Amino acid sequence: MKNCIGQIISGSLSEGFIMRFSAITDIETIKSGKFVCIQGMNHRFFSIITDLKLETTHSEILQFPPSEQENMLKHLLSVSSTYAIAQLKPMLMLDRVNHISPVKTVPHHFASVFEATKQDIEIIFGNELDVTKNYFNIGNPLDMDAPVCLNLHNLAERSNAVFGKSGTGKTFITRLILAGLIKQDKATCLIFDMHSEYGLQARQEGSNTFVKGLKTLFPSKIAIFSLDPVATQRRGTAPDIVVRIPYQDIQVEDIMALEQELNLHATATEAAYLLHGKYKKDWLGVLLSQGINAKELAEEIGAHPESIAALYRKLKTIERYPFFTSEPVSSVTQTILEYLDKRKTIIFEFGNFSSTFCYLLVANIITRRIHTNYIQKTEKFLGSKQIEHEPTKLMIVIEEAHKFLNPLAARQTIFGTIAREMRKYYVSLFIIDQRPSGIDPEVLSQVGTKVIAQLSDEKDVQAVLSGSPQANTLKTVLNSLDTKKQALILGHAVRMPIVIETRTYDQLFYKAMQVDIPVNIEKDLF
Ligand SMILES: Nc1ncnc2c1ncn2[C@@H]1O[C@H](COP(=O)(O)OP(=O)(O)OP(=O)(O)O)[C@@H](O)[C@H]1O
Ligand SMILES: [Mg+2]
Repeated sequence: MKNCIGQIISGSLSEGFIMRFSAITDIETIKSGKFVCIQGMNHRFFSIITDLKLETTHSEILQFPPSEQENMLKHLLSVSSTYAIAQLKPMLMLDRVNHISPVKTVPHHFASVFEATKQDIEIIFGNELDVTKNYFNIGNPLDMDAPVCLNLHNLAERSNAVFGKSGTGKTFITRLILAGLIKQDKATCLIFDMHSEYGLQARQEGSNTFVKGLKTLFPSKIAIFSLDPVATQRRGTAPDIVVRIPYQDIQVEDIMALEQELNLHATATEAAYLLHGKYKKDWLGVLLSQGINAKELAEEIGAHPESIAALYRKLKTIERYPFFTSEPVSSVTQTILEYLDKRKTIIFEFGNFSSTFCYLLVANIITRRIHTNYIQKTEKFLGSKQIEHEPTKLMIVIEEAHKFLNPLAARQTIFGTIAREMRKYYVSLFIIDQRPSGIDPEVLSQVGTKVIAQLSDEKDVQAVLSGSPQANTLKTVLNSLDTKKQALILGHAVRMPIVIETRTYDQLFYKAMQVDIPVNIEKDLF
């Protein structure tokens, strides 16, 4: 049975509609962000409640409000003179044959407004049962038990982002989405797992319980590459590949990505180029072994001794990491590419080496090489036009994305390039961040689908919504999200923005991932 909550009394296409609540609706049960449906003559308008307001028919009533004890008067006023209204932002309309289109008209006066039904949600967001296997349940609308699905095909087409302040559930929701992509084979992922939360297991905040990681859920589809095999082993399993990176794999451009982190002066970068000019691939090995005699080395390559000394001082820390080696071991990128070609998702664990320095440097070194390889693959495919040469879609997952994609870094680093070229070469990004305002606006504008949990800073709210046609209305919705397990989803993978209660990552979810049947059926089975 549909539940009528009110009627449209005014509004406009540009600003949305005003609904007057029916006298029997308890407005305290209606929350900002709720998904409702306006029943017009020929269309149904799917809308989000963006604001709630109390009104009276006569302003004098407010001058003499009923006292605490005057219950009778309160009741009389509530029947005749006081009421509540809601601001509704229509997002989509559906005609009589269930054809979905953008909102181009308005409902008539006094059109009834209903709570959306499970069926409405399915028409708009799809169903996991769909034969295309394109849909993945990511949660429920607020106060409703109906699966909202992401369109995984559309998601894999572009770069994506999960934003939210600390502890809002970013990592959990990312793990959910990645599980969906991996289960349905929609993309191969390379996950730079800074805090070792995606592979084997992850701790649940505030308790001593652990949740299963992606490798545990999909052992045959995932390989763990680890910089710190001892830490990986301590959590249960030896990594598939122990990573060692030869100095020869580190290019000057990789060091430039650390300019801000290391506070590197431009003259130090110049010195690195001069070293490279003379020693080519061995430039870093030479710097680290001979940099102590900065003067001699500087003379040899025509650089300033102070610049060489500064570069040496800042890069010397590389020697402290056991996985960087002066030995000419074979490049790990080649192994990564072989796994990706077999459509295996890679989780790259940093173990105890989770400093920003390490994370930025390693992610840059690997991503730059993979990107170069994907350009070659794409060109080969475009040349041959043979389907077997078409590269598989690769999604690179990074946490603390503002460190890679702030306006300065985005211009210099490989991650900025990937974000801007919009999957031309089959590589896209999945970025996770607490401070979206720190990310280059141009990069943000290229993000296809955004999952936004609670943000406390006004600057961050503005940054994530900039460019969205519904920015003003969505702002109030965003500001009213709970601190955990709630998010606003908008963009390419959903037909309209929607606030969801995130799907719980638990036993039921693991079971759903193991079998090839949809979860809404699962619920009845287990
Ligand atoms: N979908 C979910 N299912 C189960 N638990 C969840 C879910 N989302 C969030 N949680 C709970 O909230 C806690 C914090 O979530 P999470 O670690 O994903 O936050 P975060 O936004 O990544 O935080 P940080 O910015 O500190 O990395 C988890 O430890 C878990 O207990
Ligand atoms: Mg996290």
